[in-house]
Amino acid sequence: MDPVLSRLIEWGVFGFEVGRGAHFLAQMRALQLLTRIAVPGGFPTRVRQKSIEAGLRQELFELFRQEARLFADRKLPLAMLKPEGLIRHGLRVGVLLVDGVRLLRQKKAGRTTQFSEEAREKADEKPRYYQRNFHFQEDGYLSSRSAELYEHQVEILFAGAADAMRRLALRPMLERWGPTGVPGAGKGLKILEVAAGTGRTSRFIKQLLPQAHLTVSDLSEVYLQKARRELAEFDHVDFVEAPAEALPFQPGQFDAVVSVFLFHELPLEVRRQVLAEKIRVARPGALIAAVDSIQPHDFPDYAAVLEQFPRDFHEPFFRNYLENPLEGLLEQAGLRAVAKQTGFVSKLVHGTT
Ligand SMILES: C[S@@+](CC[C@H](N)C(=O)[O-])C[C@H]1O[C@@H](n2cnc3c(N)ncnc32)[C@H](O)[C@@H]1O
Repeated sequence: MDPVLSRLIEWGVFGFEVGRGAHFLAQMRALQLLTRIAVPGGFPTRVRQKSIEAGLRQELFELFRQEARLFADRKLPLAMLKPEGLIRHGLRVGVLLVDGVRLLRQKKAGRTTQFSEEAREKADEKPRYYQRNFHFQEDGYLSSRSAELYEHQVEILFAGAADAMRRLALRPMLERWGPTGVPGAGKGLKILEVAAGTGRTSRFIKQLLPQAHLTVSDLSEVYLQKARRELAEFDHVDFVEAPAEALPFQPGQFDAVVSVFLFHELPLEVRRQVLAEKIRVARPGALIAAVDSIQPHDFPDYAAVLEQFPRDFHEPFFRNYLENPLEGLLEQAGLRAVAKQTGFVSKLVHGTT
């Protein structure tokens, strides 16, 4: 490609991602202000230490810069950046701000497992560790309302970097199966995403490897329903409601098994079981990848910020997650060539079966 055009795309994408980030950060600031007015203390706690704030900003920009390069080099298709409609987005902002206040009140009162009727019915058949709220969403992952709000909430939480962090999961796929994003890309591959939620990363995988067969799996029926709607335009996709620690698949089937933002929400023992299951259903030589929060050993300077997270949000297993390096779990599970790559407050950890 013409180097001038490539440079223009790179700057354009970087500018777009920074602008998008600023847009979600403004919503985070509004949430902080509103919750502070409505509830003593408010949330989420703002990072006040200048050096940490500057360091985090630098990490964020570095992630956007790396992505901009990948888009400019046509390794990632620009369609991945398509924003949702303005009206739909704008209407949801108001709902989320009000929800933030309500959930903070509930959390302060210790009511982290209070559910709507729809969620209560579904909760009873789920594992105990799953029957609770996470982040600042009501009904955990158990109501259609939660599914509708989830992606937007996560973008507010991560200053608009959630999608870019999810796309870290694509990097080892690019290395193995590039060039991707072209019409025949992915033919013959079988990929499984566990805990896929509303299918955001699944969409990116299909945009990258259109011909791959993708199995989108999650424990939440309502999140999967939303994923099904969001991915309706793609062929070769199926949806399976299942716990990641007991997958209903034959051994040795998949060329890649990935998860995004799952492990920090699980008790340690379940984290180990999930990993063992991901490996069991993968074929020899397959890619096993996980994107999740950074841990203190990745950036010791940010340890205080990481420790604040479960104080602000209901994240009962996060503290234990911080104490058990994800790379170590992959190595203990017997994976080869374990590697990691950080991106803002998340990291990709991957290995080979
Ligand atoms: C933080 S969300 C991440 C969703 C999605 N991967 C994303 O990037 O937005 C965690 C997801 O994990 C799912 N989940 C939690 N525990 C699970 C389990 N044991 N088995 C399968 N899915 C699980 C939840 O239903 C939820 O969709």
